[in-house]
Amino acid sequence: MLEGFKQLTRRAVTSLALTNRLYLKRRMYPYPMDEKTIRGKLQHLGHGMDLRLSSNRPVARTFIWEFEFFLDQIARKDIAIDEPLFWAFSVYVAAKHGLGPQYRSGMARTSQKQAGHNPEIGLLDAVVKRRSVRRWKPEPVEPADLERIVELARWAPSSCNRQLWKVLVVDTDSDKQFLTGYFANTFWLQAPVLAVILMDSTIYGSNEKHYAYLDGAAFIQNMLLLAEAFGYGACWIGFKGWDTLGNVFMPAERCDEFYRHFDLKRLLVPVSMIALGRPEVVPRVPPRQGVGTILTKSGVR
Ligand SMILES: Cc1cc2nc3c(=O)[nH]c(=O)nc-3n(C[C@H](O)[C@H](O)[C@H](O)COP(=O)(O)O)c2cc1C
Repeated sequence: MLEGFKQLTRRAVTSLALTNRLYLKRRMYPYPMDEKTIRGKLQHLGHGMDLRLSSNRPVARTFIWEFEFFLDQIARKDIAIDEPLFWAFSVYVAAKHGLGPQYRSGMARTSQKQAGHNPEIGLLDAVVKRRSVRRWKPEPVEPADLERIVELARWAPSSCNRQLWKVLVVDTDSDKQFLTGYFANTFWLQAPVLAVILMDSTIYGSNEKHYAYLDGAAFIQNMLLLAEAFGYGACWIGFKGWDTLGNVFMPAERCDEFYRHFDLKRLLVPVSMIALGRPEVVPRVPPRQGVGTILTKSGVR
């Protein structure tokens, strides 16, 4: 109720450019912002606008205003503009000037990928060329390909070689629809296959429950790279419903319903899912941080 009221107030106040700027300044970001926060916010907003533009959805004006608020901070704090910020700026310009169709036609490429494993795609190519695909052709995923992808993905490292991965294959419309109550967005409904990665969290010690996510992530990344090599396009979709520590972030009965629906043991925690199919459109490359900002010899700069 209170949350609803807050949302309403926010929407009302942010509908005017001037009050919006004041609102952002005074209410949402009252604390001094450091460079890291500003960079992170601009990239996050850029990413949100990119997803909307590339999937033909409108970009709310509040995105633009919030972005401009942080742009202002860039100037005030004399923050250097790197590749990721530059990318965010280009998305902002397209969103602000309603260049959605131009953005889509110029920035994403229609996939020419051939079916089947492509030996030409070496490891380095797959690492660099893999993109989060969010539009697929209606062609099915060959069960033999999926099996081979999982067979190879299980060579991922896992803590104590536990290999506690389970992959729930969801390919019926009704089961996919059911998952909309548990994962964000719905673009993945178009993917021929959804692979939900589940981890048995009970076997990890109390001080290593988070290893379930590390083990799961290594496996997921292998699957994504293999999907690329097999001519598929995939998107990693995070799960926020509940976690391996027993925290549940939605009404408990909905959690029960998930296990009942798929007839799964409760010890299996969904950590993410992979939407998989033949890509229709491969998004343009979201740039990466410079190596110099990642590599560090001591301390965190
Ligand atoms: C833990 C995790 C959760 C993610 N969840 C989503 C998601 O819910 N929706 C989505 O569209 N992309 C999701 N992604 C994909 C990222 O948005 C994507 O990897 C990032 O923007 C970089 O783009 P690239 O994968 O094409 O290089 C997720 C990625 C990770 C690692």
